[in-house]
Amino acid sequence: MKISVIGCGYLGAVHAATLASMGHSVVGIDVDHAKVEQLARGAAPFHEPGLDELLQDGSATGRLRFSTDIADAACAQMHFLCVGTPQDKASDAADLSYLVSATRALLPHLAAGAVVVGKSTVPVGTVDMLRGVLGRRPDVLLGWNPEFLRQGTAVKDSLVPDRLVYGVDGGKAAAFNRSTGAPVGVAAALDAVYEPLLRAGIPRQVCSCATAELIKSASNAYLATKISFINAVSELCDASGADVAELSEAMGLDPRIGNRYLHAGLGFGGGCLPKDIRSFRAQATSHGVDAVADWMQLVDSVNLGQRQRTVDLAADLCGGTVAGRTITVLGASFKPDTDDIRDSPALDVADRLAAAGAHVTVTDPKAVNNAWRRYPRLRFEANATRALEEAELVLLLTEWDEYRRLSPAVAGSLVRRRVLLDARNALDAAAWQAEGWVVRGLGTSAAGGSFYPTDAPVPASA
Ligand SMILES: NC(=O)c1ccc[n+]([C@@H]2O[C@H](COP(=O)([O-])OP(=O)(O)OC[C@H]3O[C@@H](n4cnc5c(N)ncnc54)[C@H](O)[C@@H]3O)[C@@H](O)[C@H]2O)c1
Repeated sequence: MKISVIGCGYLGAVHAATLASMGHSVVGIDVDHAKVEQLARGAAPFHEPGLDELLQDGSATGRLRFSTDIADAACAQMHFLCVGTPQDKASDAADLSYLVSATRALLPHLAAGAVVVGKSTVPVGTVDMLRGVLGRRPDVLLGWNPEFLRQGTAVKDSLVPDRLVYGVDGGKAAAFNRSTGAPVGVAAALDAVYEPLLRAGIPRQVCSCATAELIKSASNAYLATKISFINAVSELCDASGADVAELSEAMGLDPRIGNRYLHAGLGFGGGCLPKDIRSFRAQATSHGVDAVADWMQLVDSVNLGQRQRTVDLAADLCGGTVAGRTITVLGASFKPDTDDIRDSPALDVADRLAAAGAHVTVTDPKAVNNAWRRYPRLRFEANATRALEEAELVLLLTEWDEYRRLSPAVAGSLVRRRVLLDARNALDAAAWQAEGWVVRGLGTSAAGGSFYPTDAPVPASA
């Protein structure tokens, strides 16, 4: 099938490359010239494992190309909207202006009977609003197919998704021919697109557009809830001397609970969960559902609270204040296996430490280039060994495998003081303690050992 993908960021670039790998002829459209130029060369404009290979395969087969000219979408019968829906600058709501302008730009290029399907994460009611934008084209079909891929595993998630959700006009009842049971309209078009996935047994759920919009919002809200729940409990663990790692391991063995997203630490960031729970809150408020709005407010504030909690713990470990201390932060990206620094908890904490007078060096395997211009108070060092030299306190803030594998003996030979705050509870505290490190985590004070001695002097060089 001839397909266009409008918006080739973290979602769209992966979607376009995945569709080409399924045998479709795909054109990816983006307004960002540099991004398009890079994608056209078969190079991902961001770090995403496996994407370069998929892009190169797509261009080698001739099935995948990229353009900045929306007119190049005219050849397609199916169009996926994948542009950003960031948080509005003045409120918690999602900013839908990119979606509206992309749809307006596409409008004159839509063939008769074309199908337009959104994948961006949007508030409930967005499809109705976009139908207004497409108003003069009643022949064009509109649906929603929310995306669940995760950065860092996006290629795998797209090639083998957990499920496909189709939001169609009139819901399930309207999606199938009454006598034959065969899918019609948007559902039939999406079945044709995803035929290899359906053949492989990936489940698909057909529902109304409003339900599809809310499935994505509610899924992210639930994941965020689970993370903030265990983080709130980890504070109780710290206050009471319990150990959150042991607690969550035992809780997770209950199949009704499960251990995914039940790992206490610095909390979530990135370009999706934070803005999505705020948008969900705004949606609930506008529909008068205060319980959901209040819930999301709490989840958000618990999550953001982990950042100051980490800064406060760092100050404790430095004897009351970080001012004048030399601190090394391991990790800058908002999570491992990506170079995305949007709302990165690691950089937020590092910047707060620097604002409090610490000399902060941040290292990261992939994200240093994205981060250094935006954080002038921080020093960046791509090489972890050099970054650790002379540190009085080491903070693990993004749990890259490279940091999980750090040798406590080697790291200990580089730093000035062996003090570690593992804000992701990712390292083997016992192994680090065995090498003479004072180790603290979030909610693991029972296992973490004693505080750093409060009388440690600020070095003269500070
Ligand atoms: N990043 C993820 O892991 C992920 C996962 C699931 C869903 N989503 C959702 O997907 C959407 C996109 O997210 P993202 O992370 O890819 O954002 P992004 O900022 O990386 O990409 C958006 C792209 O859209 C382009 N764009 C903006 N206006 C355009 C226009 N008029 N025409 C063509 N291109 C245009 C931008 O230049 C940018 O490249 C959001 O709604 C997000 O919530 C993202």
